[in-house]
Amino acid sequence: MPAPLSADAVRNLRALTPGAQHSVHFNHAGSSLPSAATLQAIRAHLEREATQGPMEAGVASRALTESARTLGARLLNAQPEEIALTTGHSAGWGAAFAALPPWRPGDRILVGRHEWGGNLATMRFTAERAGAVLETIPSDDSGCVDPDALAAMLDDRVRLIALTWLPANGGLINPAAAVGRVARQHGIPYFVDAAQAVGQLPVDVEAIACDVLTAPGRKALRGPRGTGLLYVRRAFLDQITPAFVDTYSAPLGAEGQPMLRQDAARMESAENSLALRCGLANALQEALDIGLDSIRATIAATAQTLRTELAAIPGITVLDQGREQSGLVAFNLAGHDAVAVQRALAAEGITIGSNGVPYTPLDMQARGLTQIARASVSYLTTDAEVRRLLDALRQLTR
Ligand SMILES: Cc1ncc(COP(=O)(O)O)c(C=O)c1O
Repeated sequence: MPAPLSADAVRNLRALTPGAQHSVHFNHAGSSLPSAATLQAIRAHLEREATQGPMEAGVASRALTESARTLGARLLNAQPEEIALTTGHSAGWGAAFAALPPWRPGDRILVGRHEWGGNLATMRFTAERAGAVLETIPSDDSGCVDPDALAAMLDDRVRLIALTWLPANGGLINPAAAVGRVARQHGIPYFVDAAQAVGQLPVDVEAIACDVLTAPGRKALRGPRGTGLLYVRRAFLDQITPAFVDTYSAPLGAEGQPMLRQDAARMESAENSLALRCGLANALQEALDIGLDSIRATIAATAQTLRTELAAIPGITVLDQGREQSGLVAFNLAGHDAVAVQRALAAEGITIGSNGVPYTPLDMQARGLTQIARASVSYLTTDAEVRRLLDALRQLTR
């Protein structure tokens, strides 16, 4: 495991992060804190739009806005033509799902127990109405999706395997590459929700063997809200047809016929916030400069300390499963509602998240959980912040 970032490096990065001066942020899984430079990249483009005219500013900033695609590709070990720039995870995932061939009665979709509720809603809304069925892949003893159990479920009616790599309700890390090996071996399309992974773990789409992978910019990547990356494997592009096209994704040819783009940008539409793309490009560059191995090692060490200390507080149950764990720490405090815990901490200037059943219904139901409190760390999180959170929780248990 590479070394975590040094305390000096973290101090420097925090000094360049306005939000780090204002709050004790343990909601990086919801949305992390952008750097001052990311903020400045957004502002600078808005200034250009105001002074030069938005269209003219768009042309002037084209190299910068397009660098979000190249840098996104580098981060995922993909090619730039395999990347579409989106407005968040759901926009990309939903567009890719809607671009699959029509669903038929009896088609099967296999999902992990940790599937994000939004993805489930998308699948149920369309596929189930057509008579397709959604089935849950069994998990192993550690709670992870079991690739062998997946292999045993396959037949020629399985049309999609969908995996949420890092769930929204716990620290478990699913074996995305092992699932990908099964999917690829059987030639079944494989979608990975990497909303919690991108910016936190090294991500290699070749190693994962996925056809589609999506993430928002605002989580571990520390990009602005309203940005995201959609990866579509080059060889899979032929199998997807966007639900709609426009002047960008399929400009009209000389004879007036729509000419569908040959790259993943066929999933984009003409109008976008270029200011936010400038911010995303900056955040991507920062993540690459810091290094995903160091980011992962730093987050893993901090989350492990937090988990161990939390588990030692009487009345607190840590709810994370899995063999390998992420920066998201899920817990419940006996006798306290998770939202009430979140509010009580907010009153102390400490931000955490809380989830009910709808974000991860299959896993919550399988484990008999109705809610969880969620403290998620970043490489920016300091030991002093961890101590403040623990002290505030100890107070609540008294
Ligand atoms: C695992 C997972 N998938 C998807 C999402 C939704 O992402 P977005 O709000 O960008 O659509 C989230 C978080 O909010 C998440 O944790």
